[in-house]
Amino acid sequence: MPASRSVFFFSGSSRLLAAGALCAAAQAALLCTVVVVAASTAAGDELTAGFVKVDLPEGNFVVQSPYDVPQEQRYRYDAGAGVRTFWVYADDKPFNTVTPTNPRTEVRLAGHDYSWGVWQFEGYGYVPSQTSGISVMQIHNEDGGAHATTMMLHVYNGTLHYYSGQVVETYIYDRWFRLNVVHDIRASTVAIYINGELRVATVVAPSASHYFKFGVYVQHHDVSRCMESRWRNITVFSKPY
Ligand SMILES: *[C@@H]1O[C@H](CO)[C@@H](O)[C@H](O)[C@H]1NC(C)=O
Ligand SMILES: *[C@@H]1O[C@H](CO)[C@@H](O)[C@H](O)[C@H]1NC(C)=O
Repeated sequence: MPASRSVFFFSGSSRLLAAGALCAAAQAALLCTVVVVAASTAAGDELTAGFVKVDLPEGNFVVQSPYDVPQEQRYRYDAGAGVRTFWVYADDKPFNTVTPTNPRTEVRLAGHDYSWGVWQFEGYGYVPSQTSGISVMQIHNEDGGAHATTMMLHVYNGTLHYYSGQVVETYIYDRWFRLNVVHDIRASTVAIYINGELRVATVVAPSASHYFKFGVYVQHHDVSRCMESRWRNITVFSKPY
C-alpha cells in the first residue's frame, strides 16, 4: 500500500463540525487539528496480506437508528470527508417497534454475511470524550443464534474493552485509531488489532453466520447521556482456506 495510507490529514468541514457539536460541543476545536492515525504502514499491510477486499457499495451500509426520529438526527455521512458520524441518546427508542433492544445508531454491513473462511473488518474509529456505555463495533450472529454476537468492543470511561472485560486500548477519546478485527471461522478465533498491534486473541463460540456492525449501541452500565462515534475508511476483506 502507498505510504500515504498511514498518515491522514483531516480537516473538518462545517457539516462535520455541526455533527460533532451534537454530542459534545467542546470537541469542535479538535476537528481542525492534524491527526496522525497510525505510526506504521507495515503492520497494516501484513494484516491484510493474502486477503481480498470485498465490494462495499454505499447500499451495503444499512443504518439502524431510533425508529421515532428522522435518521439525519442521529446519523450523518459526509461523503466528501468519508466520515460517518453516529450518535444516540440514552433515552432513545430502539431501532424498530418490535425489538426490546437498547437504543442504537449503527451500520449493519449487508451483502457479506459469512459462514466460512477468514474475514477481516478494517476501519478508522473516533470516540469523542464524554461518550460512555456503548458498543462501537460488533460481529453479529444470525438471528436466533445461541449468542447474538461473536465479539463486541465497548467504551466505558474512555477505555476500549472486549465486551465489558479485557482492556483493548486505554485513552481512546478524541483521536482516530485503526481497528482490524480478524475472524477465522474454522479455527473459531478472533484477533483484534489497534493501530496494527495485536490486543486481543481469543477463542469464540461458533455460529451459523456472521456480519459486521459499527456505530453506537447503548450498553448496560456507565452510560452517558449522549453517545457518539465516527468511522471512516471501512473495508472488509476475506480469505478462503
Ligand atoms: C480513506 O478514504 C479516503 C476517501 O474517502 C481516501 O482518500 C484516503 O486515502 C483513505 N485513507 C486511508 C488511510 O485508507
Ligand atoms: C466509570 O466511572 C464511574 C465513575 O467514576 C465508576 O463508578 C465506574 O466504575 C467506571 N466504570 C468502569 C467500567 O471503569
